[in-house]
Amino acid sequence: MYNFIRVLQHSTSSRIPSPSKLVILLISIQLLYASPWITPIPHTLQADHKKAMLGKKLFFDPILSKDNTIACVSCHNLLSGGDDNQNFSIGIRGQIGNVNAPTIYNALFNFRQFWDGRAKDLKEQAKGPIQNPVEMGHSLQNTVSTLKQKKSYADAFKEIYSDGITIDNIADAIAEFEKLLITPDAPFDRYLRGEKSAISKSAKNGYKLFIDKGCILCHHGINIGGNMYNTFGIFKDANSTNMGRYNITKNENDKYLFKVPSLRNIAKTAPYMHDGRIQTLREAVIFMTLYQLGREMSEKEIDDIVSFLESLTGVIPEIAK
Ligand code: HEC
Ligand code: HEC
Repeated sequence: MYNFIRVLQHSTSSRIPSPSKLVILLISIQLLYASPWITPIPHTLQADHKKAMLGKKLFFDPILSKDNTIACVSCHNLLSGGDDNQNFSIGIRGQIGNVNAPTIYNALFNFRQFWDGRAKDLKEQAKGPIQNPVEMGHSLQNTVSTLKQKKSYADAFKEIYSDGITIDNIADAIAEFEKLLITPDAPFDRYLRGEKSAISKSAKNGYKLFIDKGCILCHHGINIGGNMYNTFGIFKDANSTNMGRYNITKNENDKYLFKVPSLRNIAKTAPYMHDGRIQTLREAVIFMTLYQLGREMSEKEIDDIVSFLESLTGVIPEIAK
């Protein structure tokens, strides 16, 4: 119980006074057992198909980068986990970034985008990498003028948007495509929908441990994460050189706060953590147990949680292929 309180104190609720926190804690514990803290990914979502197809073309096109070498897909591989399996991504001219690329799959369910939450939604996010000097290194204006020179783009935009190619419309089309990048039907989701044999006995036990040990306090909701910030390293200093949300807000309370990442498709997105410091899922579970929960777990318990996490791999949608 002590651990739970400490974990809760580090939640986004850093601005909520303590008595309220206790009430939230008690309600949370009740809810843990009463309501589904994890909900399945829907099979389909509504999106404007024309926009999404244009967004897909842009997503795969290196034209968005200054020297025509890097596309969104270079760092967000849609045939695998929606990331690049590198500690840090490689942008134009071989430049190396300083945070690990998260998966783009199911990103629309995140409450904010980026590790430090600096973009409020996918549309705002899409403008980031185009301008980031170590990613695509383009200016937004040049991106627009380069696209305008291509008749296929000029025509496609004109057909959908009355004002043709603008930076907002580029972001809008990409965001529409990303709405379709969801991975339904993970074995665990099928289990939640009533297919009792969809996951192994070990995974079922892992799910129980995930709740009992407190992982679920931070990783819950449709994305099993992605809906709050939390301190990286609560019970032990994680020696992070990146200060997370503080970089954006300069508020002392925000030091080392990062968006709790989604655990969907987690078996496919090694390495782990915002700085890619951890190479395997097993080590990530051990790390979380020690640093976020101040506990230790037996080998069997760790194996079971890993089995549960492995059951979170969903089906890649047709549009991604
Ligand atoms: C050079 C590699 C690279 C390229 C190119 C790239 N990304 Fe990313 N992407 C990253 C990294 C690294 C992050 C994490 C950055 C951060 O949190 O500060 C990220 C974060 C994201 C996120 C946020 C996910 C989350 O959970 O917070 C989305 C969505 C995304 N990228 C979409 C795109 C789109 C769309 C494009 C093309 C316009 C693109 N990316 C191009 C590496 C890249
Ligand atoms: C107090 C909140 C909290 C608790 C409890 C917690 N986590 Fe996390 N988890 C985080 C945060 C924050 C990160 C991102 C850390 C970073 O890199 O900045 C994270 C990252 C992870 C990652 C790596 C994700 C990635 O994409 O790199 C895994 C796997 C993970 N947690 C699993 C677990 C498991 C399993 C448990 C229970 C044993 C657990 N977590 C408990 C907050 C928490």
